[in-house]
Amino acid sequence: MSAHNEQALHTEHAEHAEYIYLTPMPVRIWHWINALGIVTLCVTGLQIRFPEYVNIFGTYKAAIRLHNTAGITVSIFYAIWFAYYLIVKGNLFKLYVPNTYDIKMGIFRQVLYYFYYFFKGGPSPHHATPDDKFNPMQKVAYMGLMLVLLPLVILTGILILNVAPLREMIMLLGGLKILVSAHFLIACCFCAFLFVHIYLATMGHTMLAHFKPMWDGWEEVKHH
Ligand code: HEM
Repeated sequence: MSAHNEQALHTEHAEHAEYIYLTPMPVRIWHWINALGIVTLCVTGLQIRFPEYVNIFGTYKAAIRLHNTAGITVSIFYAIWFAYYLIVKGNLFKLYVPNTYDIKMGIFRQVLYYFYYFFKGGPSPHHATPDDKFNPMQKVAYMGLMLVLLPLVILTGILILNVAPLREMIMLLGGLKILVSAHFLIACCFCAFLFVHIYLATMGHTMLAHFKPMWDGWEEVKHH
């Protein structure tokens, strides 16, 4: 175990519980601002897409203004998140990209756990460490989300927000209609992800076990 990991692992003798420092503060701040931003984008987006059925923010203009503000906030915090993992921590790809074992075996074992062994009270096949904190299924989902879908929704959003100056690029990508449809379809993926993400987040050894490190950084290690 590296010195860093050893330092991250501390034992609270009074409670005989072991804790591991899993989520650094910048990631926690990014996550909750991003979550609020994405939820705001989904709800305002619903009104912008279906104004005849949805009116939550008073006027159409108000929904657009809030949507644009949330979009810019999410984009700026995405850039901070990316730079933090890539440059400061230097482990973005190690954490977020599945390795050969994950693809050949890990995903299968994790799916089996989520659908069967979890309900039998069995232990998860993956044990989180600061350098390997996601199970193979999380890696696949978070990689798709953070390294593909989020950059794409940000890019299409920026283009739609600047139709006049970026006209040529928009035409090159197939026109405004295609762009708006792609933006909407990716947004639907985000809505679907949110439900699955929150449900899976409750599948720790207690319902809130995975929420704790997202709040104070420390996750309790369960020994079986
Ligand atoms: C209100 C909505 C949300 C809740 C309650 C929530 C909850 C959580 C929890 C409990 C974790 C830690 C357990 C785990 O890794 O699965 C987590 C991690 C994570 N969530 Fe969310 N989340 C929300 C929204 C989002 C959104 C909208 C995104 C992305 C668009 C997102 C992306 C992530 C990522 C990438 C991680 C891993 C972060 C890291 O440690 O590097 N979450 N979330």
